[in-house]
Amino acid sequence: KMNAFVTSLMKKMTIDEKIGQLNLVTGGMAITGSVTNNGIDKGIVSGSIGGIFGLYGADNVRKAQDEAVKKTRLHIPLIFGLDVIHGHRTIFPIPLGMSATWDMDLIQNSAKIAAKEATAEGLNWVFSPMVDIARDARWGRISEGSGEDPYLGGKIAAAMVKGYQGTSMKNADAVMACVKHFALYGGAEAGREYNTVDMSRIRMYQDYLPPYKAALDAGAGSFMSSFNTVDGVPATANKWLLTDLLRKEWGFKGFVVSDYTAVNEVSNHGLGDLQTVSALSLKAGLDMDMVGEGFLTTLKKSLQQGKVTQAKIDLACRRVLEAKYKLGLFDNPYKSIDAEREKRDVFTEENRKAARIAAEHSFVLLKNTNQVLPLKKSGGSIALVGPLADNKRDMLGTWVIAGEWEKSISVMEGIKHIVGDNVKINYAKGSNITDDTTFMKRLNFGPDMVSLDSRSPEDMMDEAVKAAKKSDIIVAVVGESQSMSGESSSRSDIDIPESQKNMLKALAKTGKPMVIVLFNGRPLSLTWENENAAAILDVWAPGTEAGNAIGEVLFGNYNPSGKITATFPRSVGQIPIYYNHKNTGRPYTDGPTKFKSNYLDISNDPLYPFGYGLSYTTFNYSSIKLSKTKLKGNETLKATVTVTNTGKYAGEETVQLYIGDPVASISRSVKELKGFSKVILQPGQQKEVSFNITPELLKFYNTQLKYDWEPGEFTIEVGTNSYDTQSVKIQWMK
Ligand code: IFM
Repeated sequence: KMNAFVTSLMKKMTIDEKIGQLNLVTGGMAITGSVTNNGIDKGIVSGSIGGIFGLYGADNVRKAQDEAVKKTRLHIPLIFGLDVIHGHRTIFPIPLGMSATWDMDLIQNSAKIAAKEATAEGLNWVFSPMVDIARDARWGRISEGSGEDPYLGGKIAAAMVKGYQGTSMKNADAVMACVKHFALYGGAEAGREYNTVDMSRIRMYQDYLPPYKAALDAGAGSFMSSFNTVDGVPATANKWLLTDLLRKEWGFKGFVVSDYTAVNEVSNHGLGDLQTVSALSLKAGLDMDMVGEGFLTTLKKSLQQGKVTQAKIDLACRRVLEAKYKLGLFDNPYKSIDAEREKRDVFTEENRKAARIAAEHSFVLLKNTNQVLPLKKSGGSIALVGPLADNKRDMLGTWVIAGEWEKSISVMEGIKHIVGDNVKINYAKGSNITDDTTFMKRLNFGPDMVSLDSRSPEDMMDEAVKAAKKSDIIVAVVGESQSMSGESSSRSDIDIPESQKNMLKALAKTGKPMVIVLFNGRPLSLTWENENAAAILDVWAPGTEAGNAIGEVLFGNYNPSGKITATFPRSVGQIPIYYNHKNTGRPYTDGPTKFKSNYLDISNDPLYPFGYGLSYTTFNYSSIKLSKTKLKGNETLKATVTVTNTGKYAGEETVQLYIGDPVASISRSVKELKGFSKVILQPGQQKEVSFNITPELLKFYNTQLKYDWEPGEFTIEVGTNSYDTQSVKIQWMK
């Protein structure tokens, strides 16, 4: 039916109208490049615009859709997109934080809520999930993804697509997902934004591509090409990537949009002028051009000159129209523009509660000496210090176009909601986010302005020290501001900024126990903090309900259960650092050994490994029980551990399964995550956790890029994080 409908519509379309469908413009609320689009109203009416992004709100969208369906010759509706990344109006934790929940239902539900809010404001397409694997904490966009692991990344990618698209994209509260950035954007050299990516095909297939594939298999309707090169060719003009891999090998049926002016940027990559790179991109398999208008201004000429075929333009146009069809826009172009729903379904109590629960689950307890946390809800005093303590602006994190920071809950407010006047709070800001004015200038893009306090750094610090001296305990709320991570926010130094660190050092000298509540869009290097703070609670950028969620966790109403999904290095010099590394020919053993794969000045071990996170309670793992140790062919191996809550608090534990393949035809990673299971345990309670392991989990890409397993020895590891595991050997023959 779709085919027939689109074919008959396309028969009526002129070449200009077809090219118009391939043109995506921005309404001005989401400008992240040097080009913006002018004359959008005229463009719609002339049929030279296929979709708009950055425009939302039932009224705004209705006006634009009216122009398209009432004033154009063929009444083709527009598609409306936006960067809805971790919530629309109700903001959830940044994706790196969401991934630390290891909770697929919760993640799926967050996407569902985002879709509900976004559609109520007229949107039908979101530029999410961002599924780029990242092993480099210098890269600012590590905050937007799910960390370093392809298995976990794939599960999260699928959960988000399902949450956004629901049971049918035709539903009024569902949006089309856009999987980005295809591909390998997270592999940028030196963690520098928009930089070159170059990696072996085996690494690509094994470690970087699985989440994109998982999102596709979950039914994602669209993909976004990335800014970087893949095998020397910019992704946006890369035929191998966009056609051979994505469509022929993987069977993708949706459409591909470029990133912001990425077609134009193919020229900067060195492939020719705008006409040439536009033709190259179309021929490679790109369907829609975001903002740059390369398609709009050059494709007709290229057609006349025989540089592109009519068939290629038709194919791209067909895919865009099919997306509109799948969304039900031809049946009802206004299906999700609903002023009533906009009032009723957006920023509701229920949505905020879901955001609070998600935030609580995303927090990772990195350290907790002598059970300093949870804090007492009554009696005593707290020095609440730090530039993020009484701050609403920085609670939401990166990419919150429709998020209103004024409505977020500060840490101060959240703590007051829990303890009221029962605990004396001595507040001091203590420091600026940063005193480095050059850094500040680069940060100050858009509404997220960082400014210097009128007081001197010394006076601010003195105030914090005074507050600490008259209190029982220090709660220092420090770390990265909203714009210190995200797009175009790479850092070469991943410490807490110096201004804040100086304050922490002065506070440590008071001898009062110090709890650090850490805001961060990336793994930071926390070696000093790990040695000098009594406790560290990593809260990422928690979203709208930040302060309430932090209060709940600090005072023990919720016991933290998050586990990090990107390794925290001891120092920036260890980057890239990730748990699923190779053994190398000269494997590292801790200690001052020469001629091993190590550093002279630092251990290879991370500060906190992938999968790490503490709880207010303790969990004991029994030894691993295996159903067999010698297997053959398609058998299933059952690996079981009993986990017991040996502490005083009810708690949740994410039990992790890793598999190692020590002998194979290529050098394999020392271990790979292959399963996880979350259990909730009351004090003293125990539960069995089992994993069913089939040969599917033993497969890898060999030098021929064949995905298969090889018989022999394997290690089965189960544990609380990627380092602290028990390991047993098995044999699995074909
Ligand atoms: O969706 C984003 C992308 O992630 C980075 N460049 C801009 C796009 C649209 O805002």
